[in-house]
Amino acid sequence: MRGYDRPVTTQARITVAETPATLAEAAARLIVEAAREAVAARGRFTIALAGGATPRETYARLGHPPLRESMPWDRTWVFFGDERAVPPDHRESNYRMAHKALLSAVPLPLAQVFRMRAEMEDQEAAAAEYAEAMLKVFGTGPDELPRFDLVLLGLGIDGHTASLFPGSPALEERAQRALAVAGPNPPHRRMTITPPVIEGAREVLVLVSGASKAAALALALEGPVDPKAIPVQLARGGTWIVDAAAASALSRR
Ligand code: 6PG
Repeated sequence: MRGYDRPVTTQARITVAETPATLAEAAARLIVEAAREAVAARGRFTIALAGGATPRETYARLGHPPLRESMPWDRTWVFFGDERAVPPDHRESNYRMAHKALLSAVPLPLAQVFRMRAEMEDQEAAAAEYAEAMLKVFGTGPDELPRFDLVLLGLGIDGHTASLFPGSPALEERAQRALAVAGPNPPHRRMTITPPVIEGAREVLVLVSGASKAAALALALEGPVDPKAIPVQLARGGTWIVDAAAASALSRR
């Protein structure tokens, strides 16, 4: 692993893993550590999972020995950062990916897994239902924001994260915790957590893999700070674990 000094425009803690496999191992171990710290400090661990393909290997490592046995599953509450408007068994479903790689392999009480029902016809109602579920678990009032112990995020080549796309009105949202949105990439209709939920997390972990993300990663970490144009910069104060291919356009220090 190589660390990077903090580039001027971010306070990110950046770890470069040589390969996607070492990225997944480092990410899985960080999640275990965050979970154990949260349970020791507050009696439970609340996490919002990222979608897409990058986190799949991380989830698989959490779902198998030895890391599976290190996680306090009975004290873990799982939410999602975003979801596509497809049924949970659809190949594009983030829930399906996480269920296959992780949730089906661990002793996590079903009542502690909160799927975004983005496929509902009334998407606004589904987003309100999701926000309500967060309120119930976090016990926060209508004016307080949930504080996840860990929010996992990915990075799209256009700089999006969760389903917060460049220029989206959702980037201006300061009150709602979950929103129905439309994205440029199919499936277009989606649900996403909002910027305040990301900003309010105790820790944000961004996983970025592959040369196709190199330009977006360099812009996110070393370009001008403009989260409305580069939504992943909402996590600029977080922890980033990237592989060497994704880091190839970062300026070396
Ligand atoms: C989604 C994800 C999205 C993802 C990035 C990167 O639903 O698409 O939540 O934000 O993290 O698009 O996706 P990959 O990991 O597949 O490159």
